[in-house]
Amino acid sequence: MNIIDVGTSAPYPVVVGHGLLEETGDYIKHYAKRAETAALITDDTVDAFYGGRVEKSIAGAGLRVIRYVVPHGEGSKNAENYISIMNFLAKEQVTRSDLIVALGGGVVGDLAGFAAATYLRRIDYIQIPTTLLAQVDSSVGGKTAIDLEAGKNLAGAFYQPKLVLCDLDTLDTLPEEIFRDGCAEVIKYGILWDEDLFEHLKARRTDFDREYTVSRCIEMKRDVVTVDEFDNGKRQFLNFGHTLAHAAEALSNYSISHGQAVAMGMATIAEKAAADGTCSASCAAEIAGILDRFGLPVKFTYTPDEMYEVMLSDKKRKGGKISLILPEEIGYCVIRKYTLEEMKEFLCGGPD
Ligand code: NAD
Ligand code: GLY
Repeated sequence: MNIIDVGTSAPYPVVVGHGLLEETGDYIKHYAKRAETAALITDDTVDAFYGGRVEKSIAGAGLRVIRYVVPHGEGSKNAENYISIMNFLAKEQVTRSDLIVALGGGVVGDLAGFAAATYLRRIDYIQIPTTLLAQVDSSVGGKTAIDLEAGKNLAGAFYQPKLVLCDLDTLDTLPEEIFRDGCAEVIKYGILWDEDLFEHLKARRTDFDREYTVSRCIEMKRDVVTVDEFDNGKRQFLNFGHTLAHAAEALSNYSISHGQAVAMGMATIAEKAAADGTCSASCAAEIAGILDRFGLPVKFTYTPDEMYEVMLSDKKRKGGKISLILPEEIGYCVIRKYTLEEMKEFLCGGPD
């Protein structure tokens, strides 16, 4: 078992290990001493696998448990569910000293976290992430959000959890495609900051050492959010491959998965970075090679022009400039800001 302390403005531990669900109640007693009621928020799939076990553990520690279950999938991260959760918490007389428990993937974590950030102007919450993506990324760092009709994550708050419990056993029930989606994010960490992790993943493929890998990724996320809690600088590195990925997801009407889009985004950026001399051809080949070994796609079916048009509306574009994360070598990346013309040249090989 590993405990990784996150030193944000409100510090908290992330526990990584096996069999943690059964110990949820003990952890709550230790890290959220005042709570008398735990509002367990989850989705229907995760509830069927793990809701009963977590509820039993929390009830065993002497807390009242109330449960709110949303349908699985991104569609649940909406304003309607958010308001329903607020009304549910109020009807159940959840107080400021009580606690929300977010059990599930990034959808549940973001939705329940945003509810915690705003119900009674904030109550404590803990994250129990059950997807690989949620364990290595979304449960750590305090970004909470819901989607609006105009786009993803448009309403939200930075609000750190009291505790994150990453039970590695929950990954056993993940459908393969969702596991692979998380692998794209894991590979991203290796390319960004950790050549040893990259080599481990290259050698072991999806049979990587889960405790080592999840813990290393969380340590890297911890390092980033500790120095840039509110996403004004270093945290942007986590967007490696994501600007192109978001464009492709939008172009596909969200029929390609996020992980697949990120994989193609990273491979494409690496290829372009090799073409403009930022990284070597061998580095770009390494990146495409590892993604391929994980069964992740590396080539977009959209033209650079199509991608560019969609990227113009990306919310991460600041003042006419787009920031891209470029690999220089495995384990070392840089941020470059591009004007729209430069961006077009980078992607499409030259302005019209
Ligand atoms: P998700 O939460 O939709 O989970 C994917 C699917 O896996 C769901 O159908 C879920 O029911 C199922 N599932 C979850 N755990 C399972 C398990 N252990 N066994 C079997 N099935 C299981 O998707 P996700 O990929 O975890 O998260 C994506 C969301 O995370 C997006 O909304 C994205 O915006 C958000 N996100 C947030 C941050 C952040 O920093 N807050 C970072 C990255 C992504
Ligand atoms: N997943 C991006 C971030 O946490 O900033």
